Amino acid sequence: MDTTAPRVSVVGTGYLGATHAAAMAELGFDVIGVDTDQAKVDALSRGVVPFYEPGLPELILKHVESGRLRFTTDITEATALSDVHFVCVGTPQQRGSNAADTRYVEQAVRDISANLTRDALIVGKSTVPVGTAGRLRGAVSALAPEGVSAELVWNPEFLREGKAVEDTLRPDRIVIGGTSARAEATLRELYATPIATGTPVVVCDLETAELVKVSANAFLATKISFINAIAELCDAAGADVSVLADAIGFDDRIGRKFLNAGLGFGGGCLPKDIRALQARAGELGAHSATALMQQVDEINMAQRQRVIDLALDALGGSVLNKRIGVLGAAFKPDTDDVRDSPALNVAAALHLRGAQVVVYDPEAGQTARRSFPTLSYADSLIDAATGADALLVLTEWREFREADPSELGAIVSGRRVIDARNCLPSERWAAAGWSVRTIGRTASVAALPTFV
Ligand code: UGA
Repeated sequence: MDTTAPRVSVVGTGYLGATHAAAMAELGFDVIGVDTDQAKVDALSRGVVPFYEPGLPELILKHVESGRLRFTTDITEATALSDVHFVCVGTPQQRGSNAADTRYVEQAVRDISANLTRDALIVGKSTVPVGTAGRLRGAVSALAPEGVSAELVWNPEFLREGKAVEDTLRPDRIVIGGTSARAEATLRELYATPIATGTPVVVCDLETAELVKVSANAFLATKISFINAIAELCDAAGADVSVLADAIGFDDRIGRKFLNAGLGFGGGCLPKDIRALQARAGELGAHSATALMQQVDEINMAQRQRVIDLALDALGGSVLNKRIGVLGAAFKPDTDDVRDSPALNVAAALHLRGAQVVVYDPEAGQTARRSFPTLSYADSLIDAATGADALLVLTEWREFREADPSELGAIVSGRRVIDARNCLPSERWAAAGWSVRTIGRTASVAALPTFV
């Protein structure tokens, strides 16, 4: 280990922080992860990750054992030992407002600044409304002890849940905002490995760095709502949105990614970020962005109603006392995260209309039970499907995509499936006697024989 290498602390060890801490250790640095939650610190110190993220437990365990990574609740351990402090705490949506709640970021920056005993670089990674970092610079200079120099910069994170380790070790781009030459050199040293393999570095001002992050998520959300609006048109016109997406996606100015029509986006990031952008744009008088985000959000939320309507239609107008097997609870596959999950939203709405809803998810059963304890849960796909009048595929887990329609057809009460993620091989399901409903693919499904 190079003794002159910067030592790192990561404040906040949720999704972002735990992954960033493990990745920094993997890149060769000594890392302390700091969190106020003692139970989380204890678990991480044993290499136990309190959420499902492929590859992360192995990486944390590897570096806890190598001695490069440790976790504490004591911020003074981090300020005594570390040169660079990454701020990775959450910025959830405020209650009763669209704006982001920045109180945890503010608290973390204050805690670091007030406890510094040596010069430090504070690097914000959390997603914040534009202008937050500029404001926090005042707090850093007011709180940092005399004789200690502290600089605050912003370096947003773009990791996706389910691919967090890969995205952190090999990011598409590194954005660093508001740095002095010295801070830029330190960050380039920390990210030397991905930079050496070609990851581009964008150096900009603080405000641009803050806005890059929310704009990226806003664009992804817009892409999804765009294709969902076109899916509605495809249904009305008798066209197939999946083929359409393939065709427009061949144009590399458009690209095929994030053009999967269906139940729409959820999770802890896209919904809150478009709302925070809408709120901040409104405050700053940038009304086009406000109006666009409003429309994107409306289209997205309407998809949930669209799937509820498909279920009602499939079951003859009422779901009362009908048994519905809901396949999927997570907001997307390869995660156990159910924050703002469209799947659970639909499941709960059908339950409230009197359906007997049984939910199965390969990984998110526990988190879903905690968030929606009134729903019924099955421990297997077979249990969820047994006796069902209809199956709803709401999260495109591989287990559902590859399920055998003949096997499931033999145990349900009615062979009706709503493929709300357009992820099933419809021909195979139809050939096994299922009536298949999709989003924006009426054309291809109408061409199939239907069995109700
Ligand atoms: C998103 C961004 O993709 C990351 O780059 C960003 O760093 C992260 O938010 C964040 O701000 O922390 P994530 O929330 O993990 O990552 O999920 P995505 O993979 O973006 O998926 C979001 C939602 O869009 C899911 O519900 C997914 O089902 C839906 N989606 C995605 C579609 O409905 N259609 C698509 O074609 C793609």
